[in-house]
Amino acid sequence: MGIVSRLSLSARPFTYVAHVLALAVAVMVLVWCIHFRGGLAFESTDKSLIFNTHPVLMLIAIMSYKALPFAKNVKKVIHLVLHGLALLFGIFGIYAAFKFHNESGFPNLYSFHSWVGLGTICFYGLQWIFGFACFFFPGAEPNFRRSSLPWHVLTGIMAYLLAILAAMLGFLEKLTFLEDAGLEKYGTEAFLVNFMSMVVLFLGIFVCLSSISPPSDADEPHHEHDYTQIM
Ligand code: HEM
Ligand code: HEM
Repeated sequence: MGIVSRLSLSARPFTYVAHVLALAVAVMVLVWCIHFRGGLAFESTDKSLIFNTHPVLMLIAIMSYKALPFAKNVKKVIHLVLHGLALLFGIFGIYAAFKFHNESGFPNLYSFHSWVGLGTICFYGLQWIFGFACFFFPGAEPNFRRSSLPWHVLTGIMAYLLAILAAMLGFLEKLTFLEDAGLEKYGTEAFLVNFMSMVVLFLGIFVCLSSISPPSDADEPHHEHDYTQIM
């Protein structure tokens, strides 16, 4: 990230903005699914309630990233656990979408959103398994770790951006379905969904900015770790 190191940026302000955006999108998706779309359910005769768990779980999955003021090893475990939880929420959220389709008699995997979405979760799963095996257990030898860390960061950011893209395509697709079924194009709900998509886009941008910016000195006084601080 040569250019980034010359911009004298610090991760902290980007991280604050990312947290505010994450909070905003969490509130918006709950207001949308509960107030406008009738609520959430995993078993129901109203199949659209099963669908509603899909965007909620997928957005929870998107909200996990790092930047906590703890010791390196603690942060590593938190990083691993949060991405593990994101993966589980993601798998569960996709299961909800398939369940909704199967119980409603709709075909599966017909849309670009669903292809990008399935690809994203597979990529994310591989990223997690590789990260776990290389940096945690059993752990690769130090030289290999050092050389694979920049790849881990690059592919991690790519996986994250793919998830953002999948979510935006999902909002676009769902809103198009709803508008075809008569939802007012300039109504409150349509605005809410489009704004949510916009907030997700900015969330992705700020998480990436935070991720590629060096921590401020106060957050990370000593760079004593063998395979960290690559950017
Ligand atoms: C990272 C986030 C997301 C991923 C990985 C993802 C993944 C998927 C997958 C794999 C399916 C296919 C299910 C099937 O074929 O039975 C699907 C369906 C669907 N998703 Fe998402 N989704 C995400 C977020 C969202 C969001 C935020 C919305 C917004 C409402 C959404 C709306 C839909 C809709 C309407 C369908 C059914 C139509 C279709 O198959 O395209 N998704 N999603
Ligand atoms: C899908 C899951 C994962 C993604 C998307 C991901 C992504 C990233 C990204 C973007 C970074 C750069 C720093 C940051 O912004 O956090 C990073 C750093 C790192 N990751 Fe992962 N990672 C994942 C799973 C794992 C796992 C399972 C481990 C195992 C311990 C791991 C170990 C590390 C280490 C040691 C660093 C460098 C230290 C640090 O900056 O905290 N990652 N990862």
